[in-house]
Amino acid sequence: MSMASAVAAQDWAAQARLAVERALTQWVPEHASAGLGASMRYAVMGGGKRLRPLLCLAARRSVSAKEPLELREVLDQAALRAACAVELIHAYSLVHDDMPCMDNDVLRRGLPTVHVKFGQAQALLCGDALQSLAFELLTPEGAQVEPRVQVELCRLLSVAAGHAGMCGGQAIDLQSVGLNLNREALEEMHQKKTGALLVASVMMGAACAQAQLLPEGAVQHLKTYAAHLGLAFQVVDDILDVVGDTQTLGKTAGKDADMDKPTFVSLLGLPEAKALAQRLHDQAQAALVASQLPHTEVLSALAQEVIDRQH
Ligand code: IPE
Ligand code: IPE
Ligand code: MG
Ligand code: MG
Ligand code: MG
Repeated sequence: MSMASAVAAQDWAAQARLAVERALTQWVPEHASAGLGASMRYAVMGGGKRLRPLLCLAARRSVSAKEPLELREVLDQAALRAACAVELIHAYSLVHDDMPCMDNDVLRRGLPTVHVKFGQAQALLCGDALQSLAFELLTPEGAQVEPRVQVELCRLLSVAAGHAGMCGGQAIDLQSVGLNLNREALEEMHQKKTGALLVASVMMGAACAQAQLLPEGAVQHLKTYAAHLGLAFQVVDDILDVVGDTQTLGKTAGKDADMDKPTFVSLLGLPEAKALAQRLHDQAQAALVASQLPHTEVLSALAQEVIDRQH
């Protein structure tokens, strides 16, 4: 990527991040019953890289060329809702992941975790309510976006969040404490617990489109990009747990070894885990080129960020 297009991609991502922050502030209720709103806002608004929403919006950007202006506005709005919905599912997954019955973490995004601040019962309900809110966002009353697109967005997100995706991966994660998983089993765990939502982020952005305007096979290439990026993301998470410090990570470093969790670092060692993340990144970039889509520079920059990140 040229310097000029790298800067343009950064500017675009900064604007998109702002739009997501504004929309989340508007859509996550502050005053829900009995303090539930406070815990929901705390779980969602307290920072976070917003990678999933950015992937969704960047994927939408990559498929939006050639659309008439009016349709473009409707689909951009649908994509913003999708971007926020996937972030809500992610935030819920973190609230539950941190609970004593799972990873028992006290620090998240540099702050006390939701159950530490609000208690376990509230954390459980907070996660549940965030999950429901995600689907509420995807199906607004009187929406201009075609019902077909709304249904597709709900389908992509529910499959990625459920037993075949995030929840299934989390179940494998808990069951694997103290075990030496082989490469295939570890990949399956990572693809489900983390990769699935990242793939859904991209596919939801791509679903906000007119398929007949896209190059043949483009959406499949975007899926390949997302699958490689998704796995790379969790490989890097495993690496950062070992090489990062608590202050920079905003979550307790060294937790995986403490809890005796199988990770790509425990399986391959640090140098080989880093090399794997780089290879997956390269494969993600190659899939973007193969897609022949005109505006993939933000997706490309996000893939680079996934392997360069320090937290
Ligand atoms: C952390 O995700 C949990 C994993 C899936 C590894 P992120 O690193 O995207 O967390 P935030 O949203 O930026 O805090
Ligand atoms: C979490 O994986 C994946 C989720 C579905 C939340 P981790 O347990 O490794 O995430 P961190 O390290 O706590 O953020
Ligand atoms: Mg976990
Ligand atoms: Mg955890
Ligand atoms: Mg981790």
